[in-house]
Amino acid sequence: MDALALAASLLLAACGDHAAAPHPDHRQDPDVRGVIDFDAAAHTGRFSPTDLVGFRALPRYSEPDWVTRDFVRTGRLPPVAQRLPREPLVYGPGAMPDGPGVYGDVLRQVTGGRPEGWNYSAGQSQGWGGIDLATMECLTRTGPLFLVDPARLEPLPNLARSWQWSSDGHQLTMQLVEGARWSDGHPFTSDDVMFYWTDNVLDSNVSPLNGASPDSFGPGTRLEALGPYTIRWTFQRPFPRDYLYQMAYGKFCPGPAHVLRPLHPRYNPRSSYQAYKLAFPASRMNFPVMGAWVVTEYRPDDILILRRNPYYWKVDARGRQLPYLDEVQYRLLGWSDRDIQVMAGGSDLANVDAPATYAEVLRGAARPGTSYRAVFGPRTIAYAVQFNLSGNGWGSPDARGQAVRQLNRDVRFRRAVSLAMDRVALGATQIGGPFIKPYPGGLLESAPFYDAAATRRYAYDPAAARALFAELGLVDRDGDGFVNHPAAQLGGANVTIVLTASPDSVIERSLAEGIQLLARDVGLRVVLRFASGPQRDALRASGQFDWVLQRNETTELNTVVQGADALAPTGPFTHAYHRAGPSGRLDLLLHERRMLDLVRAFIATPDQGERRRLMRLYQQVSTENVDAAGLIQYSGGVLIDKRFANVPVGTPVIMFNWAEDAIMRERLWVPRARQSGYELRPHTLPGCFACGGEKR
Ligand code: GLA
Ligand code: CA
Repeated sequence: MDALALAASLLLAACGDHAAAPHPDHRQDPDVRGVIDFDAAAHTGRFSPTDLVGFRALPRYSEPDWVTRDFVRTGRLPPVAQRLPREPLVYGPGAMPDGPGVYGDVLRQVTGGRPEGWNYSAGQSQGWGGIDLATMECLTRTGPLFLVDPARLEPLPNLARSWQWSSDGHQLTMQLVEGARWSDGHPFTSDDVMFYWTDNVLDSNVSPLNGASPDSFGPGTRLEALGPYTIRWTFQRPFPRDYLYQMAYGKFCPGPAHVLRPLHPRYNPRSSYQAYKLAFPASRMNFPVMGAWVVTEYRPDDILILRRNPYYWKVDARGRQLPYLDEVQYRLLGWSDRDIQVMAGGSDLANVDAPATYAEVLRGAARPGTSYRAVFGPRTIAYAVQFNLSGNGWGSPDARGQAVRQLNRDVRFRRAVSLAMDRVALGATQIGGPFIKPYPGGLLESAPFYDAAATRRYAYDPAAARALFAELGLVDRDGDGFVNHPAAQLGGANVTIVLTASPDSVIERSLAEGIQLLARDVGLRVVLRFASGPQRDALRASGQFDWVLQRNETTELNTVVQGADALAPTGPFTHAYHRAGPSGRLDLLLHERRMLDLVRAFIATPDQGERRRLMRLYQQVSTENVDAAGLIQYSGGVLIDKRFANVPVGTPVIMFNWAEDAIMRERLWVPRARQSGYELRPHTLPGCFACGGEKR
């Protein structure tokens, strides 16, 4: 069998039904058999939220012996029971498919990003790849919801342990976990929540990472603290249950007010917004977190080391404080090194989303005695070209840019671009077989509410694309092969489109080049602008682009219910590719208005039949009008070393969140006999933050 046929057969076996039986190879693996019961793990989509997590006091708590011995007995830390909330978050059986575990061992990962610094409340990225998800905790949690029965779907409680709606549905009162502490021992209270809301989300000089803005929670929404552990939301719209999803990663994950506030210009006249953002550079260790691990060591372009948070507020059913794994390491390499490193035995967990290596990955996983397994899911990753649809000056385009916006705003132009895209060829340059399908735009085929019949596809037809250009007056007047603007516009110059893309991932680079070639075939000049990491994100967020090549980083196209407001420009500054210009007003196109009405109606009704009808219409309007030009959709996978227990077989690479959250790394454990010798800083805990990074 050649590599592709092998890959195809493995993939079909692995992802036909994503709650399917585990890969046969682990059960035949003598190392694993009897140690981990993989059958117990195959329960995706069958639980209720309360099977996964709850809050209650347990008779006894424990922690790794070395923590008690070296830190508690020596007076450097209070006993574990005093470091935990009175009622900690307890993982239920649904979250522990292999049962509660034992302490020890390390998780080695790779990221292609680099930490900018630790002030994510002010927009700095920690280097992605799941470093964010290891350190940030949010009011609610959705990553693991792929385990929950769709009929009982609701975000999991997290920092908000419970909530009640007022009878008119305009107020939502939330109880925060009581007695939880930041990793430096400082209490977590509503003060942290209010500081995040008032001085980061509502303060227009601050842009939190992942883009929370007042509009993320609806116009006119208010939040107040009723006490140290109670907050109350007031919404204009009754029962906006969808905001419970917004309160999960990444829109409502408060930072530590006790260290941030003293640097915020509103409280410190000697500071400035820029100084606030940059106050906690990547070199500053032990930044207080609510997450399971704390960054304790950083060597640029080499490694980040994270050690267990001694104040983590979550336990297993036997009262063992989580996480089980004492250390997480991040090698600072490239994005395409993630799967390579797992295959080479240098890393334990990776998202695989670069199809060029799938055949290799699956072949490796099928080899007897191999150290890792591959879990592939449904086709939840997609790429599209997003057109900047603002004609209102958003991003301050020059004359050329403004002319491109006018074209972008014409449905004939967007259709022509879509007709010029040979999606089969774009997919085939990545890999053949069943991994990739053409993506017409709109909801992904794996999403609930997806309706194939409502989906309009513009199949590859370069002649039709050229005819539409001609209809728009775009013809090649100077015979150089590229269509020109009409003589009265820009002196009749060639139409030139700048496509912004990231050079950091192999697939994105090759897709961008493919788009450029396909556009040239229909006489459209596309220039590539590669911008890395935070720079690319900043260009996009500020509207400085004509077209952007975009992977679905957010989850609305996969889940619909989470982040549904991102499906249309619901606020002046919320949408990815259409925002208000200097006047503060949007200039919506007709189809966008229809999408907006449908999305608003969808959010407002709990009636499932009506919701299905609305999303059918949405899909039709969105794809017919080529709101964005879809390219390819494909399945991704998760590679994980076989020594880890508690990995549900169907963990998707992205659905409600990326796999690092879905997999719940804090509950992964390794049977003692299989524990590795990879730990770099055994028997250490995060040091003191306030004293500038000394060891505790
Ligand atoms: C990046 C990666 C994803 C995932 C996220 C987690 O976006 O490409 O695979 O690891 O980071 O933050
Ligand atoms: Ca020309």
